[in-house]
Amino acid sequence: MLIETISVFPELFEPYLSASIMGRARRAGLFEFRAHDLRDWTHDRHRTVDDAPFGGGQGMLMKVEPIFEAVEAVSAEGPRPHVVFFSPCGRRFDQRAAERLSREDRLLFVCGRYEGMDERAYALADEVVSLGDYVLTGGELAALAVIDSVVRLLPGALGDEMSPVDESFSADAGLLEYAQYTRPASFRGMDVPEVLLSGDHARVAAWRRASAVERTARWRPDLLERASLTPEETELARRAREGA
Ligand code: ADE
Repeated sequence: MLIETISVFPELFEPYLSASIMGRARRAGLFEFRAHDLRDWTHDRHRTVDDAPFGGGQGMLMKVEPIFEAVEAVSAEGPRPHVVFFSPCGRRFDQRAAERLSREDRLLFVCGRYEGMDERAYALADEVVSLGDYVLTGGELAALAVIDSVVRLLPGALGDEMSPVDESFSADAGLLEYAQYTRPASFRGMDVPEVLLSGDHARVAAWRRASAVERTARWRPDLLERASLTPEETELARRAREGA
């Protein structure tokens, strides 16, 4: 997979994408990354990428011409990329979207800054993504979050010992992940549930399912609307939500 970004702060990406699992996946050739500087497609002495909005108002907008030139020039270097813009006005990103993007061969992420973009720039977008209902100073952090969530889904990225299959938000479960523990079995009066020490795989599996239902009911009850629960699990969720 080839992942590219266009932004006015191309240097923000390298540290994160060189470290840890991202760095390892990159060195293993699972993805290639290139950060492009939007200012390379300006033509004035000050390399201007922003301007005041028509009609007045606060702040500056990203100009349309450099964005068009950049996306067109970068796109022409290879097969047509899937082009993603970032904005708090976009569609909220989720695990399903990460899975969809992980199947693309070439992703081009366009990161805005300032108060937004000239609306005409969005004509280039295959999709507009929001990280959540809050405002960042730019799209770079959103792009990094999306890149991370996509790369870890690439086969081999997490290594053999880890699997993205039964974690929170994976498509089939619709529940948060179950509670997990490691040594020590007892810490400051807080004991690991006995069943997890039992070695009884069926009991462990049943406990984990109940734990996932309880945690989801307590922390993300909105997710339960789309999860399929047995009558016993529905009762368990009701009690967890009431804090019983
Ligand atoms: N740019 C600024 N805020 C953003 C957000 N919440 N998601 C995506 N891009 C952004």
